[in-house]
Amino acid sequence: MLDDLRDAYARSGDEHAENYLDWPRFSERPYISATHGNRYVQNYANETAEEEYGQFEDAEVMPEGSVLAKDSFSVSQQGQGMIGPLFLMEKMEEGFHEASDDWRYTLIQPNGQIVGTTQGEGSENVEFCIACHMEGSQADSMLFLPEELRVQP
Ligand code: HEC
Repeated sequence: MLDDLRDAYARSGDEHAENYLDWPRFSERPYISATHGNRYVQNYANETAEEEYGQFEDAEVMPEGSVLAKDSFSVSQQGQGMIGPLFLMEKMEEGFHEASDDWRYTLIQPNGQIVGTTQGEGSENVEFCIACHMEGSQADSMLFLPEELRVQP
C-alpha cells in the first residue's frame, strides 16, 4: 500500500509528495480522520519539523522549511484499499501569506493532480484548510493526532 501511495502522489512532481515516506512518522498506525474525508490517515514531519512537531501541543512556532504530510486511503466493503488525497503543510518564509501564518497548504489527488496550493494555482481550493487549522490550534495551526496513537519516531 505504501508503495502505491508513493507512486500515486509522486505523479504530481511535487518534491514533498515524492519524499514524505522517508520522513519520521508520528502515528502508530493509520487512524480515521473525520476532517480529512473520513479516511485512514497518518502523519509525517520532515527533518526541519521533526523536533518541534514531536512536542505536540507544546510546540512553538515552526521553523521555515518545516513540512508536515498526511497521506490517506479508504477501504471498500470488499476490503480493497483505495488511495485518497495527500495533504501537505509547509512553513514558508515570513510574509508569505499572513492569513495562513505563512503556512502553504497543498492538496494532491491520487492521480497526481494538484487541486490547490496556497498563493499558487487553485489557492482558493485550499482556503478551507486554513480556516479549520487556525481556529482549532494552540500551536501554530497544527492539530496533531489523538493522544493514544502518538509515537516518537
Ligand atoms: C474541519 C477541519 C479541518 C480541515 C478542513 C482540514 N484539516 Fe487538516 N487537520 C485537522 C485535524 C483535526 C488534524 C489532526 C487530527 C487528524 O488527523 O484528524 C489535522 C491534521 C493535518 C495535518 C497534519 C499536521 C497537523 O496539523 O498536525 C496536515 C498536513 C493537514 N491536516 C493538512 C490539511 C490540508 C492540506 C487541508 C485542506 C486540503 C486540511 N488539512 C483541512 C483538521 C482539518
